Amino acid sequence: MDKFIITGGQRLTGEVSVSGAKNAVVAILPATILAEDVCRIENIPNISDVTAMVKILKNMGAGIKYINPSTLEIDTRFVRSHVVEHDLTKQLRASYYLIGALIGRFHKAQVAMPGGCYLGLRPIDQHIKGFEALGAEVTMEENAMVNVQAEHLLGNSVYLDVVSVGATINVMLAAVKARGLTVIENAAKEPHIVDLANFLNTMGADVRGAGTDVIKIRGVEKLHGCEYSIIPDQIEAGTYMVAAAATRGNVLVKNVIPKHLESITAKLIEAGATVIEDDEAVRVIMDKRPGHCNIKTMPHPGFPTDMQPQFSTLLCLAEGTSFVSESVWDNRFRYTEQLTRMGATIHVNGKTAVIEGVEALKGAPIRADDLRAGAAMLIAAMAANGVSELEEIQHIERGYENVVDKFRSLGAIIERRSFPDDEEKVQMTAG
Ligand code: EPU
Repeated sequence: MDKFIITGGQRLTGEVSVSGAKNAVVAILPATILAEDVCRIENIPNISDVTAMVKILKNMGAGIKYINPSTLEIDTRFVRSHVVEHDLTKQLRASYYLIGALIGRFHKAQVAMPGGCYLGLRPIDQHIKGFEALGAEVTMEENAMVNVQAEHLLGNSVYLDVVSVGATINVMLAAVKARGLTVIENAAKEPHIVDLANFLNTMGADVRGAGTDVIKIRGVEKLHGCEYSIIPDQIEAGTYMVAAAATRGNVLVKNVIPKHLESITAKLIEAGATVIEDDEAVRVIMDKRPGHCNIKTMPHPGFPTDMQPQFSTLLCLAEGTSFVSESVWDNRFRYTEQLTRMGATIHVNGKTAVIEGVEALKGAPIRADDLRAGAAMLIAAMAANGVSELEEIQHIERGYENVVDKFRSLGAIIERRSFPDDEEKVQMTAG
């Protein structure tokens, strides 16, 4: 088992560069299936979700070549399979984008239900509703296989009952080569939705309105290969911004789109940080104890749920009481138990957490319950007094490229160490 060992109490200072967006790349990689051609994609983050998606595409017959560590060439001309088994899909949530891409290309898909972080129930009823509206028949098999078949895909109106990033993306993928016009109403507006639409349009699709809540997709007969560069990761950027504030540091976060960070910037300023925006960078300076503030997570452009654990960690150190309300996921406060071990005072009641700020956190053995919870634990450990041992770090590596090196370059004391598994430990003791 690998762990991060973190000695807290260092102010983070210096510069860090943000990688390509995880939630964009995991949609754009499956979208290449629709091209039936060669795509060259730049600014690919080196994270395990990408490794998993690349493995799935290779398995389906795609030719994949790394031109350099952040540029991939993907040839989907010879993809033949429309079946993806559970041992592959279980590694990441975004594997369900293969359904939209496969039915867009082959009019059929058999894809096992996806894995991903546990954040409460993660239904896919809105994805199914969208596929059915386009004329597909969807059945769920006992072995958790989602089976989708369509004689023809015909454009239609799809009103999403909940604002869903995944359903918006899946319906876009299924609709780009459908006959006629598809209109997605109450669509999600996240930056990665816009990035996917731009990628599809670069391949010759006709997608308009991405970034608003009505997306119009006029089906085209054929797409073609293209060159494309993934946008910077909004949440990775936000994580470094909050880490700077929590350690009372001064960090320049580079390669960002400041507009995507507005809700995070606004809350950091409310908590007492100075945030200086440049064209493609933001500087965060915090030279005092943070002040309390309230946050409520919302679909974009609201405060992102994927920043809630990290920001709540900052509020644990604030002067006064903060209220955090999670309105996207049913169960996204599990990590607070770990913060409590470090001396935080948090009371969770359903989808609200009341945080009474303390002067300092103390190092402890802690666990990354999921990707963003793991990022929050890193921030807590870097801001705390003493040493923390952080377990289950594979969750963090799903979405943060070179996280140890990046934080070290800012002055954090952090290392990745391998420990024998518990089972091995028991055997060693017994022996
Ligand atoms: N929902 C439904 N039915 C559906 C789909 C969603 O009821 O068919 C509900 C969900 O239960 C949830 C809400 O709608 O309450 C929003 O879910 P959404 O579909 O937007 O989430 P997702 O597509 O599964 C993506 C990100 C998550 C991020 C959410 C919200 C990817 C691969 N994942 O998930 O990112 O939290 O949008 O912004 O893009 C992360 O990166 O750590 C992460 C969990």
